[in-house]
Amino acid sequence: MKELPHILKLPKILDSRGNLSFFEYPGQLPFEIARTYWIYDVPGGEIRGSHAYKEQSEFIIALSGSFDINLNDGKKDLKFSLNRSYYGLFIPKMYWRRLENFSTNSLALIVSDKHFDEADYIRDYEQFKCLINE
Ligand code: TYD
Repeated sequence: MKELPHILKLPKILDSRGNLSFFEYPGQLPFEIARTYWIYDVPGGEIRGSHAYKEQSEFIIALSGSFDINLNDGKKDLKFSLNRSYYGLFIPKMYWRRLENFSTNSLALIVSDKHFDEADYIRDYEQFKCLINE
């Protein structure tokens, strides 16, 4: 069955010294982590992403600040807003994704189940629509 994008709520260990959250596989994540990267210092109004992946899945958290993630499955748009460090969005392969409305000093942490491979990117939306409707 096709996996769907969904928000995962992470553990939150409340502590008067400061809270703590975490994720690991297989406890919270649906995949084993192969790569971690982060997006930061995003100038106001900028958009990141605007592509899909043929094979890789990702899990995205707003470690700091907030931003929106727009997904498209070739037919309809799905919009998610991330603004807490204990929620993250799981995005399966083959979703067109766009990250936008970054707040000042926001920090997006992204973990992926694959190593970086430019050949896994689909950067043309029309090509994405053709591939997903095959
Ligand atoms: P890209 O994935 O297009 O960024 P975004 O989706 O956030 O807009 O990546 C931007 C550039 O960084 C591109 O030249 C590829 C490079 N890159 C790596 O070398 N390794 C990585 O893990 C990632 C995510 C990107």
